Amino acid sequence: MNWTEKYRPSSLREVIGNKRAKDKLLQWAREWQKGRPSKKAIILYGKAGVGKTSSAHALAKDFNWQIIELNASDERNKDIIEKIALTGAVNEAIGANGIYISSKEGARKLIVLDEADNLYEKAGDYGGKRAIVETIKATKQPIILIANDYYQLIKGSGQELRKLCLVVEFKKPKINEIISLLREICRKEGIKADMKVLYTIATRCDGDIRSAINDLQAVAYERRIGKEVIPYIGYRDREKEIFKALHKILKAKDMKTAIREARGIDESPENLILWIDENIPYEYRHLNDLKDAYEVLSKADIFLGRTWKRQYYGLWSYAQELMTGGVAVAKRHEYRNFVSYNFPAWLREMGKSKQFRQAKAQLAQKIGKKMHMSSKKAMEFLHELKPLFTGDTAIRLTAKLDLGQEEIYILVGEKAREIYEKAKELKKNEKQTLLFNFK
Ligand SMILES: Nc1ncnc2c1ncn2[C@@H]1O[C@H](COP(=O)(O)OP(=O)(O)OP(=O)(O)O)[C@@H](O)[C@H]1O
Ligand SMILES: [Mg+2]
Repeated sequence: MNWTEKYRPSSLREVIGNKRAKDKLLQWAREWQKGRPSKKAIILYGKAGVGKTSSAHALAKDFNWQIIELNASDERNKDIIEKIALTGAVNEAIGANGIYISSKEGARKLIVLDEADNLYEKAGDYGGKRAIVETIKATKQPIILIANDYYQLIKGSGQELRKLCLVVEFKKPKINEIISLLREICRKEGIKADMKVLYTIATRCDGDIRSAINDLQAVAYERRIGKEVIPYIGYRDREKEIFKALHKILKAKDMKTAIREARGIDESPENLILWIDENIPYEYRHLNDLKDAYEVLSKADIFLGRTWKRQYYGLWSYAQELMTGGVAVAKRHEYRNFVSYNFPAWLREMGKSKQFRQAKAQLAQKIGKKMHMSSKKAMEFLHELKPLFTGDTAIRLTAKLDLGQEEIYILVGEKAREIYEKAKELKKNEKQTLLFNFK
């Protein structure tokens, strides 16, 4: 089970950091309990993974309120939001399926509008924000608007929201607060972790608690987490760079821009296609756009396959251009909002737990054998070997050591697949030359 879900705070008390913000939420909720809220809605804004959604849910639990959650960026919810607005979001609020939920005497229903800055709005259509404003004016139930980008939310027809809502910022928690949370999770999981590991995770995550917990889970494949995992925590920086480029690729309106962006990052088409495949659905919200994008992506995949099969690297550029430029122009709608992307599931699996440990042990064994040392000794050397694994040398070493894809992954990360394929070809060719080597 994913630890971010497992350890999602169930009460505001468990939400770390942001004391001021939590106090404001509590005070506001108490006002509602008494039936005299100073403001009917709260805007909760802040960076990703700091606990906004969790806090809204925790608050509802703490006060025993029913929760009605709507994701504002989902086009299908537009009607529901408008319906709530029209009917006044009054005593009887409307559930996510658009059906009335009757409230028992006195019981409150908290309406949570997540991703409110990503409001689904067609160009020139301000209906969405207006609907929210009207809803807040009419509501007899507490409303929380959640956003990453406050200014996106209050701009244009969102202006009025500033007057109507309490504004609460969720800030990045302190490093020691994150460390305490990670330690608590380790305790519950029965894991002993080196302080340095927890410190590294807590500083690298840059306030994003979700990613801190994910990082911890990714290296927690034993009851003891030692310093040796520290080099593997660092992928996040690289991830950020790729996310940024992905963003520009998927948002691009012409082929050129998308292709140029892809060239800017040093990522092989093999990996790039995984990133794009994983993230198209977050960006493209219209079904037809999705369908067309995947159509193009599948063509890119065919070109990739042929590149390997025919050993003709000229085909690579077709693959790359289809998966970037092709996918970019497959959309018929403009998606202006900021959405957060995902790490490709396949690569994530590779980075995980048991598989990772096994691969590491095998890698050390293979290297130890060739270098005449114990695998324990080789294990200590793994880190030093990393710089050797670049370019052609990486391919030759992979072939020589007969490494599997998982094993190379430990040394080169996302490039593993590509190097593995090339090494495979190399071995095949070598065998053929040997066959005719009559000297
Ligand atoms: N302040 C916190 N205290 C404890 N756990 C937290 C906190 N913030 C985040 N988490 C953990 O991270 C996960 C994601 O948090 P959450 O969904 O609340 O973030 P968010 O601020 O809504 O992010 P996003 O902007 O991406 O929606 C939670 O399930 C929880 O495990
Ligand atoms: Mg959220």
